[in-house]
Amino acid sequence: MTPETTLMSARDSVQLVYQGKSFQMPLVRGTEGEVGVDISKLRQETGLVTLDPGYGNTGSCQSSITFIDGEKGILRYRGYPIEELAVQCDFLDVCYLLLYGELPTKDQLSKFANEVTHHTMLHENFGRFFGALPKDAHPMPVCAAAVAALTTFYQDAEGEDSIHQSVLRLIAKMPTLAAYSYKHSIGQPSIYPRNALDYCSNFLYMMFATPCEEYFVDPMFAKALDLLWILHADHEQNCSTSTVRMVGSSKANLYASISSGISALWGPLHGGANQQVIEMLESIAMTEGSADKFVQRAKDKNDTARLMGFGHRVYKSYDPRAKILKKACTDVLSRIGGNNQLLDIAMRLEELALHDEYFVSRKLYPNVDFYSGVIYKALGIPVNMFTVMFAIGRLPGWIAQWLEMRRDPQFRIGRPRQLYTGATQRAILPIEKRG
Ligand code: ACO
Repeated sequence: MTPETTLMSARDSVQLVYQGKSFQMPLVRGTEGEVGVDISKLRQETGLVTLDPGYGNTGSCQSSITFIDGEKGILRYRGYPIEELAVQCDFLDVCYLLLYGELPTKDQLSKFANEVTHHTMLHENFGRFFGALPKDAHPMPVCAAAVAALTTFYQDAEGEDSIHQSVLRLIAKMPTLAAYSYKHSIGQPSIYPRNALDYCSNFLYMMFATPCEEYFVDPMFAKALDLLWILHADHEQNCSTSTVRMVGSSKANLYASISSGISALWGPLHGGANQQVIEMLESIAMTEGSADKFVQRAKDKNDTARLMGFGHRVYKSYDPRAKILKKACTDVLSRIGGNNQLLDIAMRLEELALHDEYFVSRKLYPNVDFYSGVIYKALGIPVNMFTVMFAIGRLPGWIAQWLEMRRDPQFRIGRPRQLYTGATQRAILPIEKRG
């Protein structure tokens, strides 16, 4: 047990009565007061397993990285509220905080930023790697494959020093891999990183510069991207993070574990929702008045439409990240000027849903993906790159969770149980008697 949790007194334990015998299960309390039933000896003592599809009630680990209170709409990294991190820190500060547990001093930040900056280049052979893939490949699997391929370039991925190098390489190279995958998809030459630029400006430069003309990054765009990445940086044991932990629990190296996290994030019910939100808003924009119709469709159980960017497994109130992004959306779009049609539709959908019994009774509110796509679009990021943007932002969280798991004194390979529902033992019939 980590020092952050406390074992509660035996008076508060949970008693299970099974086959006339009673079993005591201890309770543990986290630092924010949430209480968990420790069932680690359940099978050994009773022969029973638990059944929890989707893990809605299962705490898979103890973690000191991120705290969420979904009822109250609270999100904190290492104790700091997301609202404060969003205005007082930049993305590299937050990376450092997640990875090392404390906000950096000036010297620590400058050393960290310098180390990250000097690992941004890719091995030249990566050019051939991208060249071997179809031009219209979605950049998400391209990034997952490229991150897995990093293992082949850095084969010394184990040991504390090597792990530290892998952490720096991943944070540094991920934007370069993402920008290269985009350049490949549009048939333009890749642009080398520029060490004079900060993390976010460098990414925008590699995305939009060409060898033919100068390209200057708008500082407001870099700031907006920095905010998005801070908000995405960690979100405790979600689908992709649990995937990273699960893969890493077999002692697979960091690159392999992160690659699997990228694949998990791609799905439309997880990080892929930001792409789906823009596609939904664009399709509504093509038919006047259809925001109302779309909300009706999203409620209809015979229709496959869902209000993308709405609902969350943990948040049963407004996602605090969506609150920050809604304001950022308005700021960015008013600075850029021009047509705000998609934002207008998003706000109309939100208004309709928040006053509709279906959404209210199910506690469905906008999640982080509802407004992020509108900002990415305003920054000129192509829609199929939205989930890649999310992956770059989530990277420090995945790494911090992977490091925490590997250093946990209770470290064990992840291996859930099941309730078998298939055929009981039977004999194999000769082929002519089957069917
Ligand atoms: N539109 C319409 N109905 C919805 C929506 C939605 N967006 N989300 C949930 N519901 C309904 C369900 O149909 C269900 O109704 P029922 O009780 O009548 O059967 C009820 O609300 C509960 O929904 P579940 O799917 O059981 O909730 P779960 O916690 O399993 O799923 C999820 C959460 C996947 C996020 C879901 O709300 C969803 O599909 N949202 C749209 C996709 C999305 O925005 N994903 C991004 C999540 S944030 C992230 O991963 C970064």
